[in-house]
Amino acid sequence: MRATTVFTVDPTAIDGELIQRAARVLLSGGLVAFPTETVYGLGANALDALAVRRIFAAKERPAYDPLIVHLADVADLGRIACDIPPLVSDLAAHFWPGPLTLVLPRGADVPPEVTAGGETVAVRVPAHPVAQALICAAGVPIAAPSANRFGRLSPTCAADVLADLDGRIEVLLDGGPTVVGVESTVLSLVGEPVILRPGGVSREALEAILGPLTVSERSVLSAEDLLESPGLLLQHYAPQAPLVLYIGTSSAMRAAYLSEALRYQQSGVLVGLLVADEDLPFLAGQGLLVETAGSAEDLETVARRLFSALRALDAAGAEVILARDFGVTGLGLAIRDRLTRAAGGHVVEVPPLRSER
Ligand code: TXA
Ligand code: MG
Repeated sequence: MRATTVFTVDPTAIDGELIQRAARVLLSGGLVAFPTETVYGLGANALDALAVRRIFAAKERPAYDPLIVHLADVADLGRIACDIPPLVSDLAAHFWPGPLTLVLPRGADVPPEVTAGGETVAVRVPAHPVAQALICAAGVPIAAPSANRFGRLSPTCAADVLADLDGRIEVLLDGGPTVVGVESTVLSLVGEPVILRPGGVSREALEAILGPLTVSERSVLSAEDLLESPGLLLQHYAPQAPLVLYIGTSSAMRAAYLSEALRYQQSGVLVGLLVADEDLPFLAGQGLLVETAGSAEDLETVARRLFSALRALDAAGAEVILARDFGVTGLGLAIRDRLTRAAGGHVVEVPPLRSER
C-alpha cells in the first residue's frame, strides 16, 4: 500500500470536507485511524466483513480477539446489539458519550469477524468530536481496536499511530493528543455485570449506579479468562523494554526501585524509571533516565501521560524499565492494570518500610 494519508483536523473547528473524504474511504472498505478521547482507534465499517478483516491484518492481531463497535449515539444501539437490558439507558445517560464499552448480546447484522465468532458484541459511543463527526458522516457503525500493532502500547497521538501503522492504513485523522490516555472500561452486561477491563470510567463511578462490581481477575490468566475477553492477554500494552512494576507505599517503592536502578547502572545497563513528580527530588543528580507521568495526586494526568512516558523511555534506549504503581483508587485501577500487563507478571510487592509499620 502507499504511504498513509494524514489529515490534520482541529477538534474545535472540524473541517467537514476532510471528514467526508475519510468517511468515503471507510465506506469503500478502507481503514481510517481516528482520535477518540481515550486512545486512537483503527476504524473500518463494522458491517463490512472484508474491511474488518483488514483491521486484523494491519494490526497483526489474532482473529480470536474481538473488536469494539463505535456508534455516534445510543439511539443506534439496536443496529448492533439485541436483548438490551434496561440498565443500559441509565449507563448511557451517565457515561455516553465517553470511555465506557458495554458487552451485550450480538445483533444479527454484525459480522462474526467483529465478535471473533462470539455471540456478544462490545459497543461504545466515543465523546471525541472527530470520532463523532466521522461516525456521523459514514452513517455506519465503526469497528475499531486501538491503532497499534498487536501487543504494543496504545497510541495517544498521531505520531504513535504512524510509528506502528504507516503504509498499512489509508487515512489517519490527526486530531492532536488524546485526553484520557488509557482505553475505555469494558463492562460486560451479559449475565451479572462484571468489569472485564478497567479503564477511563472508574469502578467507583460505575458502582455508584450498579452497586458493588467484580473486576475480572487476570493476574493469573486461565483459559476461561481468555475465552471471556480474549484481548486480556497478560503480556499486552508492552513497551519494547522489559518492565518491572513496584507496588507498595511511596517510600517503600522508591527505596526498592532506586536500589535496583543503581545496581543496573553499576553493571552498565541503561535503566529507565517511570515515576511520579513527587519522586523526582529523590532521584536527582544520579544520572538516571527518568520519566514522570505527573503527580501521584493527579491520576487524570498520570493516565493521560502513561503510554507516552513509556514510549519516551523506549525511545531513549532503556534496556529495562522500573515503574512505580499509583494505587487502585479511581483511574489508578486502569493504570495498575496497564502496568501489570506491560510487566507481563514481573511485579514486586514491596513491604512497608520499618518506619511505616
Ligand atoms: O478506548 C478504547 O476502548 C479504544 C478506543 C479506540 O475505542 N479501543 C480499544 O480496543 O481499546 P481494543 O481492541 O484495543 O480493546 C478492546 C478490548 C479487548 O480487550 C477485547 O478483548 C475486548 O475489548 N472485547 C471486545 N469485544 C468483546 C466481547 N464481545 N466480549 C468481551 N470482550 C470484548
Ligand atoms: Mg488494544
